[in-house]
Amino acid sequence: MTATSYLNSVRASYDAVAVDYARLVGAGLARRPLDRAVLAAFAESLRGDGGRAVADLGCGPGRMTAHLDELGIRAFGVDLSPAMVAVARRSYPGLRFEVGSMAALDVADGVLGGVLAWYSTVHTPPSELPPLFAEFARVLAPGGQVLVAFEVGDERVRLDHAYGHPVELDVYRTPPDLIASLLAGAGLAETARLIREPVDGEPSPQGFLLARGAPPA
Ligand SMILES: C[S@@+](CC[C@H](N)C(=O)[O-])C[C@H]1O[C@@H](n2cnc3c(N)ncnc32)[C@H](O)[C@@H]1O
Repeated sequence: MTATSYLNSVRASYDAVAVDYARLVGAGLARRPLDRAVLAAFAESLRGDGGRAVADLGCGPGRMTAHLDELGIRAFGVDLSPAMVAVARRSYPGLRFEVGSMAALDVADGVLGGVLAWYSTVHTPPSELPPLFAEFARVLAPGGQVLVAFEVGDERVRLDHAYGHPVELDVYRTPPDLIASLLAGAGLAETARLIREPVDGEPSPQGFLLARGAPPA
């Protein structure tokens, strides 16, 4: 698959599932205390970093943007799928959501306090992750922080059905060391990681990796 065709499939698939994804995944965080703990740590360290905005990249229906907002973080969402962005805007009218690709953000250099990529890099082939992480690094202020959530493993899984709809999606389960080294290649040094066992029928262990850019000189 070329870079363009995989993005077209991701966009079309998430456009098809947007409403049902929001309904089925919406309450999932309430049953995942470790995930909430990682997000709380991310939010707490951001609060100490001067209140810069945080981008929730691949925000889907906006549940994580809203969660960051509840944690006192000034967050906005970006997603490839117009239908996902429409759901997010309807669900959280007080927050900002834009259609866009996380590989080419409409954001100036060095302005964000943080970037959250919560299961949104999982459809990107690992070979395509370096330019994406370089884009994260470009928009972050010095010392800015990244949190990536992903499925742990070392395989590509083809989905032809998800959330009650036909889709055409690849999920790349990825070794945490690979995510860490690709982030490091973009100048984002790992600060912590959590690997937890699956819950609620998740198909693999789940990984959470925190990284940060070089601190201000
Ligand atoms: C598994 S969903 C996760 C959504 C949300 N982060 C959540 O946890 O509910 C993956 C989302 O990432 C978006 N996405 C995937 N690749 C993207 C890209 N290159 N740029 C922007 N959004 C992307 C998809 O459209 C989809 O909404």
